[in-house]
Amino acid sequence: MKKFVIITFLMLCVVVRSQLSADFYSKSCPNLLSVVRREVRNAIKLEMRMAASLLRLHFHDCFVDGCDASLLLDGSDGEKFAAPNLNSARGFEVIDTIKNAVESSCSNVVSCADILAIAARDSVLLSGGPTWKVLLGRRDGLVANQSGANNLPSPFDSLDAIIAKFAVVGLNITDVVALSGAHTIGLARCALFSNRLTNFSGTGAPDSTLDSSLIPSLQAACPANSDGNNTVALDVKSRDLFDNQYFVNLVNGRGILQSDQTLFSSDLALNTTKSIVQLYSSNPAVFFGDFVNAMIKMGDVRPLTGLDGEIRKNCRVVNS
Ligand code: HEM
Repeated sequence: MKKFVIITFLMLCVVVRSQLSADFYSKSCPNLLSVVRREVRNAIKLEMRMAASLLRLHFHDCFVDGCDASLLLDGSDGEKFAAPNLNSARGFEVIDTIKNAVESSCSNVVSCADILAIAARDSVLLSGGPTWKVLLGRRDGLVANQSGANNLPSPFDSLDAIIAKFAVVGLNITDVVALSGAHTIGLARCALFSNRLTNFSGTGAPDSTLDSSLIPSLQAACPANSDGNNTVALDVKSRDLFDNQYFVNLVNGRGILQSDQTLFSSDLALNTTKSIVQLYSSNPAVFFGDFVNAMIKMGDVRPLTGLDGEIRKNCRVVNS
């Protein structure tokens, strides 16, 4: 009986997962992948950081009610105005440009949620990272969820809170570590980590897990009287290159966000994430393999398929 239940459960998982497919648009929009690749390449040529920003958009989309492009909806009650996204999430204009380019070769066929997934993959690849076949066939949601977006993983969360938030969307501890490796590219604002630089009297380093030799440069980038919007690289060594340097940094106490360093330095990390960080720091191929796996899993969080949702014409508004 137990065996039967397990087999039925596994079959159900296969059915759920197989709703997306790599060749979903092969007849309806055969040029899709080359159009998106071209537009992502153009955007990155203008500003290399855009690769990081596009990758993050897909994460912030998928973690809130699944990968349904709800993040892209305009409006002050939308997800863009939630704390983790406000003055932070970027790349919306690039998604508009990609969507317009896609619409001009195949109209009303490709969802904004799928464009986010392909753009994230291309951003990783064009930054020197691994590639994979993106599963497609998501449809776009009809509503945004601002309170859901306010509950996205925070740089101030403890490791157990982060692990719990990933578990809610079906991602395990290996996925937590592998996906955090996305912080091998991109920037973070001072407001999100400057509490780690000084103690309450404004001197010294209260966060003993931060390599003290890194503090002067971070303090210079984040002066005490500034508004917190200055930025520094999440990977202090190779900010534009998608490699395993982020994990080498963590082993050396050089993670920027507290939520990064906790993967290596917290007590809970000892029997959860620390050994995975160590493995990735010395073996980029294992990191790349696990990252690809985790991206495919994250891209498969509660997609709308079939007759659910719609194919948005303009990614910023639901169709009228
Ligand atoms: C583990 C939980 C995570 C936390 C707490 C977290 C937090 C953050 C924070 C605070 C920033 C800086 C935002 C700002 O400066 O306004 C950031 C940036 C970034 N995050 Fe994460 N993140 C997490 C996981 C992820 C995942 C899973 C991905 C993608 C797979 C990702 C991709 C990125 C990228 C690429 C950037 C740089 C964006 C840019 O430069 O525009 N993060 N993250």
